[in-house]
Amino acid sequence: MSAPLFSLDAVDAGYERAQVLFGVSMAVAEGEVVALMGRNGMGKTTTINTLFGLIPCRAGRRLIDGRDMTDASPHAIARRGLGLVPEGRQIFPRLDVRENLIATARSGAGPWTLARVYALFPRLQERAANMGNQLSGGEQQMLAIGRALMTNPRLLVLDEATEGLAPLIRAEIWAAITHLKAEGLAILIIDKNLDALLNICDRHVVMERGHIRWQGATAALRADRRLAEDHLEIAAAPPSQERG
Ligand SMILES: Nc1ncnc2c1ncn2[C@@H]1O[C@H](COP(=O)(O)OP(=O)(O)OP(=O)(O)O)[C@@H](O)[C@H]1O
Ligand SMILES: [Mg+2]
Repeated sequence: MSAPLFSLDAVDAGYERAQVLFGVSMAVAEGEVVALMGRNGMGKTTTINTLFGLIPCRAGRRLIDGRDMTDASPHAIARRGLGLVPEGRQIFPRLDVRENLIATARSGAGPWTLARVYALFPRLQERAANMGNQLSGGEQQMLAIGRALMTNPRLLVLDEATEGLAPLIRAEIWAAITHLKAEGLAILIIDKNLDALLNICDRHVVMERGHIRWQGATAALRADRRLAEDHLEIAAAPPSQERG
């Protein structure tokens, strides 16, 4: 079997004096869709930040395609085909939609073009000339996903991509993720919606206080729904002023 697309191997990491991750080992293979679950503050975003080289591995290793990239820069890691939709979206408020998308484009590296992003999210085409800060929360989230796709990733990582969005907008985003999965893209998803995760993911990784508490296939998690519910924050009702 070929090496996984990426793996973290017994990684310790943290911030200044606080250690947050303790011996974290997980991997995602080509074409696999994996959920990273855990309650607030358990270390999900820190795991993602470590994967992308935004914080260093204090111990353990980061492998991409089986190659040791423990000491690689965030830029070198992204170039290996990892695309991040960060918590909080982080789009450019003073660039318009089109400019936001072009800013991260790596042309020639794969199939993604403006036209394909607009086909995935027709709303973005309607809003192409609007500034980032004129978009609704849902549109900003679509833009953040589109921007990550413009880097032509082999692995897309979504950190709370449906957080705080109205149900209809959430459904649009899940539909887009389902479409990307059908195209064979590997995806790592952090989200609070257990039913959506059980529907779309092949495998689940559960974190608790910086440790991997459980990992397994969807069928196993379905059979032990209690385990999943114990490790997911109950999704808050969407704010009523959010119209998407
Ligand atoms: N920049 C930082 N500096 C210091 N400590 C941090 C920093 N970011 C996160 N932490 C701490 O690291 C721990 C894990 O946080 P992390 O953001 O990885 O959790 P999470 O699982 O993504 O939570 P959430 O569901 O709220 O997004 C928490 O105790 C948090 O307070
Ligand atoms: Mg987080």
